[in-house]
Amino acid sequence: MAAARSRSGSAAATAISARDVAVRFETEAGQVTALEDVSFDVEAGSIVTMLGPSGCGKSTLLRAIADLVEISEGGIQVFGRRPEDARRARDFAFVFQDSTLLPWRSAIENVRLPLEVGQAGVTVEQHAEPEELLALVGLQGRENALPHELSGGMRQRVAIARALVCRPRVLLMDEPFGALDEINRDNLNEELRRIWEETGITIMFVTHSIPEAAYLGQKVLVLSAHPGRVREFVEIDLPIDRKLAVRDTVEFIKITARLRKLLEPV
Ligand SMILES: Nc1ncnc2c1ncn2[C@@H]1O[C@H](COP(=O)(O)OP(=O)(O)OP(=O)(O)O)[C@@H](O)[C@H]1O
Ligand SMILES: [Mg+2]
Repeated sequence: MAAARSRSGSAAATAISARDVAVRFETEAGQVTALEDVSFDVEAGSIVTMLGPSGCGKSTLLRAIADLVEISEGGIQVFGRRPEDARRARDFAFVFQDSTLLPWRSAIENVRLPLEVGQAGVTVEQHAEPEELLALVGLQGRENALPHELSGGMRQRVAIARALVCRPRVLLMDEPFGALDEINRDNLNEELRRIWEETGITIMFVTHSIPEAAYLGQKVLVLSAHPGRVREFVEIDLPIDRKLAVRDTVEFIKITARLRKLLEPV
């Protein structure tokens, strides 16, 4: 079965596995169940996008994988390790909607930052070269620009380069292009697929945009709300080397129509 194979054709390893995960928060108004009975596997080297109504628990799920939120029931593994151990091993990096760059540091200094802050144990051989990463995200020549001298899209490119500097195996992205205009977002979607192809990294990407989820994802994890559960894990049957023009095809339009239907309240 094609889905069980990696891009190289060999049997695929599992990058992220979630089993019967529940996350509950204690609030002043009582207990909130953000996620319940959530189980899925993400194949190593794949891109999975996540869609679901606002408040259904998408960010909570990414944060649970990253060991930023405590799991109440069930378990998550990242390359066979508990999230806590995966965090210590620097198995993943996070990119948020806001690039969170330090305003007084240049692009290259921002990319270098994780190598300076609390990175004991990361050797020169293990990390990627900041200059090469800025080239990878299309920012060669802008190494010395300060964040305020860059556009929103360029700042997100710097944030992606910074996330890649410790060579994580998994990139967790929470609406990273949500604040960008459509053209910038389109460009970054294409760039992200190219970066994914060049690095072989596993990506989990949250978005509110159905076309973005369908274009980027090999699979789309659709969540339903109250509490957040897996509605369906949809396989996206589009070519692996897809270009943006694929969005004008009948196949793509059928896929987005199906995703839209899955997002309707049950
Ligand atoms: N730290 C917290 N304390 C209490 N409740 C929380 C906390 N974090 C999230 N929640 C609740 O958990 C639920 C899921 O929130 P979450 O932010 O994961 O949703 P989301 O799907 O990312 O939403 P959006 O699409 O708006 O970003 C919501 O009901 C939210 O209020
Ligand atoms: Mg969110």
